[in-house]
Amino acid sequence: MTVDEPTTAARATMRTVSSERGRTERGGSRPRTVPLGADLAAAIPDAAVAAVLTAVVFLVLRAQIHAGTDPAAREMPNMIATGGIWAYSMSQALGFAALTWAWLTVLLGLTVSGRAVRGRPRLRGWTERLHRSTSLTVVLLIFLHAATLLWDTMGDTPVTLFVPFATHYTPGRISQALGIFSLYLAVLVGPSYYLRDRIGRRFWRVTHRWLVPAVYVLGVWHTFSYGSDLQGHSGLRTALWIAQVPIVLAFAARLLAPARPGERLFGRTRRQDPTPAEEAPQTT
Ligand code: HEM
Ligand code: HEM
Repeated sequence: MTVDEPTTAARATMRTVSSERGRTERGGSRPRTVPLGADLAAAIPDAAVAAVLTAVVFLVLRAQIHAGTDPAAREMPNMIATGGIWAYSMSQALGFAALTWAWLTVLLGLTVSGRAVRGRPRLRGWTERLHRSTSLTVVLLIFLHAATLLWDTMGDTPVTLFVPFATHYTPGRISQALGIFSLYLAVLVGPSYYLRDRIGRRFWRVTHRWLVPAVYVLGVWHTFSYGSDLQGHSGLRTALWIAQVPIVLAFAARLLAPARPGERLFGRTRRQDPTPAEEAPQTT
């Protein structure tokens, strides 16, 4: 794919756009797919904010443990004796950060495809970049949330943590599998964006659109069914239910008023690629 040479007239208005566009076979231009490395670097500030949230939740959980009110420590007091409780609390904190970031990611994704950004390429580009950053952070947070459990002295191994239904803790078999499926699906339908020129942009977009709701729903379901703190604090459960209201509203808005004319979630997608006017520069 070659880089478009901007015309003199276009140079004035599309300075930031031109370097990001490639020429299509039909002679038009479309946004380039930003390489994974560039997005990973761009996601560092976002991941740093997620790390701060994780640290705050971790400190709250530690304070609960010292006060003797932590639901997980009450259920599994042996973790305090074996010293594994710090890893368990860290995993819980990463889980809460993952869920918060998944929530944000879904709202940003729905904004990218919704009417709010129609005819506003800069806003769309900014929202999409932020969405890509938060998405990469979500995948990292989920992975760390699971991997940290290797240090909680409860006997977990990579197999029990990453193979569905393999956990030795029978009551958690289904709940844990929901989380594992969510992680696998997130990896499959998210970062495959960086291969979209190989697998086909339309295929990527349609797969992403139809499967990302499952990533989120599985994550929320896993949380409601497995989280000790959630089960121990009714206020937290209520807050999590209330947090779903904006998601449902944004989803409904996306269905009723998509960004691209003629595109409906439950209808036919008329065009394979958005026109340049509909899609924003990717890295400005
Ligand atoms: C690295 C991973 C990811 C990348 C690069 C990415 C990128 C994108 C892009 C470019 C769009 C706009 C599609 C369009 O042109 O309409 C989009 C939409 C969306 N994304 Fe992601 N995404 C990723 C992961 C995720 C994850 C993990 C979730 C959910 C937790 C998610 C939720 C959404 C949603 C809900 C939409 C709106 C789909 C629609 O209704 O059309 N994305 N994403
Ligand atoms: C490989 C995938 C996963 C594994 C092995 C896993 C494992 C666990 C375990 C063992 C717990 C119980 C901790 C407790 O007692 O509270 C838990 C809770 C939790 N998980 Fe996951 N999980 C995975 C995926 C996910 C995903 C995809 C999300 C959300 C995006 C998530 C968010 C949470 C949250 C918020 C809690 C609740 C913490 C609490 O209420 O104390 N997890 N997870």
